[in-house]
Formats: sequence, C-alpha cells, structure tokens
Amino acid sequence: MILVTGAGGKTGRAIVDALTGQGETVRVWVRRPEQANGLPCADWIAGDMQDAPIWEAACQRVRAVYHICPNLHPAEVAISHVAVEAASRAGVARFVYHSVLHPQTSTMAHHWRKLESEEVILASGLPFTILQPCAYMQNVLAHWPSITQRGVYPVPYALDARLSLVDLRDVAGVAAKVLTESGHTGAIYELAGPQPLSQTEVAELLAESLGRPVRAERVAWAQWEADARQRGMGEEAIATLLAMFRYYDRHGLVGNPNVLGWLLGRPPTSFADFASSQ
Ligand SMILES: NC(=O)c1ccc[n+]([C@@H]2O[C@H](COP(=O)([O-])OP(=O)(O)OC[C@H]3O[C@@H](n4cnc5c(N)ncnc54)[C@H](OP(=O)(O)O)[C@@H]3O)[C@@H](O)[C@H]2O)c1
Repeated sequence: MILVTGAGGKTGRAIVDALTGQGETVRVWVRRPEQANGLPCADWIAGDMQDAPIWEAACQRVRAVYHICPNLHPAEVAISHVAVEAASRAGVARFVYHSVLHPQTSTMAHHWRKLESEEVILASGLPFTILQPCAYMQNVLAHWPSITQRGVYPVPYALDARLSLVDLRDVAGVAAKVLTESGHTGAIYELAGPQPLSQTEVAELLAESLGRPVRAERVAWAQWEADARQRGMGEEAIATLLAMFRYYDRHGLVGNPNVLGWLLGRPPTSFADFASSQ
C-alpha cells in the first residue's frame, strides 16, 4: 500500500489516479471523510495533517509515503517533522515529498517552508525522493469561465513575467514512477515544462486552441486582495501570495525541462498540447 497525503486536492487526485492507473493499492489522507468519495483508493484516513496520532495510523502497513502538504499551510515545517517521525517509526521504505521549483527563495514564505521541509527530510535518515514541480498548467483552469466566456485571462502580476509551466499529469506520472521504480533514492528532481511563457503568450496559446480571442489582463493587487478576502482567503495566505506576485513581477520563475524529459522518456507536455486537451 502507498499512502498519499493531501489526496483531496488537485495534486493528490492526479497522483492517486496515476498510481491506481498502474494497478497500485493506495491509502489516501483527506481532511474530511466525504473527500474520499470517488477517489479510487483501497483505504482512507481523514483528519488534520498536524495531528501526530493520525500520522502514526496513516503510516502503518504502507511501503511508501507520498507527502503533499496543503497549499500555503503555515505549519508545513512542523508537519514535515511529524511526518518523517511517523514514517521512520513505521519503517516505510520510501518517502517522497512534493516540494516546489526553487524552494530556496526566502521572499516567498511558502517556498522557503518547503526548503526547510527538505532539510528535515534530508536529516531524517529516511530513503527519500524530492520532487520540485513548477506551476501547473492546470492553474489556468481556475479562470476557465472568464477565459471561455469573456476572452480574458486575468493575471495579478506582470504580463511579461515568464514562468515555467508543467502539466500536472506529467508530474503525477513521475510521482508514480519514483514511488514504484527503484533507483530514485536520494534524488531531488526539478520538474519544469518545456519553455517558460509570458502571460501574454499563455493567452495567445489559449486563443489558438479555443479558436477565439483571449487576452491576458493585469489585475491590480488591491482588486485581487479584495476579491481574495471576499472568497474567504485568510490574511496570511493573502500576504504570501502578494509576495509571490511581487517576486514573479521582478524575476518570473523559470526552471529547466531536462530532468522531467529524462524521467518521462519523452518531451514534457507543451502548453499548446495541454490547452488543446481541455
Ligand atoms: N498549484 C501549483 O501550481 C503547485 C506547484 C508546485 C507545488 N505545489 C504544491 O502542491 C501542494 C498541493 O497543492 P494543491 O494546489 O494540489 O492543493 P489543494 O488543491 O489546495 O489541496 C489541498 C488539500 O489539502 C486539504 N487540506 C487543507 N488543510 C488541511 C489540513 N490541515 N489537514 C489535512 N488536509 C488539509 C484540502 O482540503 P480542503 O479542501 O478541505 O481545504 C485539500 O484537499 C502544495 O504544497 C503546493 O505548494 C503546487
């Protein structure tokens, strides 16, 4: 059995699908029991990821753990400590951590917490693999109604900011590979899609695949902040994401696709191919 944490989220679901698609038996960890409905799992466990006794139970009788911390969780490092302690006590043969591209970016708190978590894992003595994916292509789907109905791709940072994007299905394929194949212990793999794109180029590729005009439109930070607050986003998450937008404005976030291509045994999915598959 393989334990996948954060399994109710978009990353978790993609990885559970990839694993079960290969015939693997999966235990999922979701926050609430109903989130396990419809997941192709053999077993589920529900609760808060900061809860050490749940970690102990979750790691029993599993040969591998794929750990996905909830997005922007302020206690990610503390959760990593509890996770590696439980996995070590249970004697799991493989611990795979879902990190992020360029975790060593101190001005983005959620990246920095992943770097600290990587250090916790390195020091744990567990047989580990760390995956560092860039932003998912699937993130644009959050704006699908605006893109398809108004022809507007809203972006709260510079339209010329260049980001590497990866198809989450490629990430999930690699996750399944490192969980089930030998030879990946001690590896830290950067997972970036083919070529970095500006947000204007993303809109152009969306327009091409949809066969109708789509333009990228800059959203002012004050407007984004007001909308986020109205949607119920907490103050810490808002501050973290604003810091990320500032970073993207200045530097973008660009990785290299070589490692992902090597792991997949083919070129990573392009944004054009992703867009035409929607
Ligand atoms: N999105 C990207 O482009 C990207 C790129 C690289 C890395 N990542 C990383 O991937 C990870 C997952 O991101 P995601 O976008 O897939 O997240 P997500 O869709 O927001 O999923 C997070 C899941 O965790 C659950 N959760 C939240 N708080 C919890 C808690 N305290 N205890 C247990 N479960 C809890 C959520 O349940 P509720 O629905 O009930 O809140 C949700 O099911 C994050 O660490 C993120 O940094 C993301």
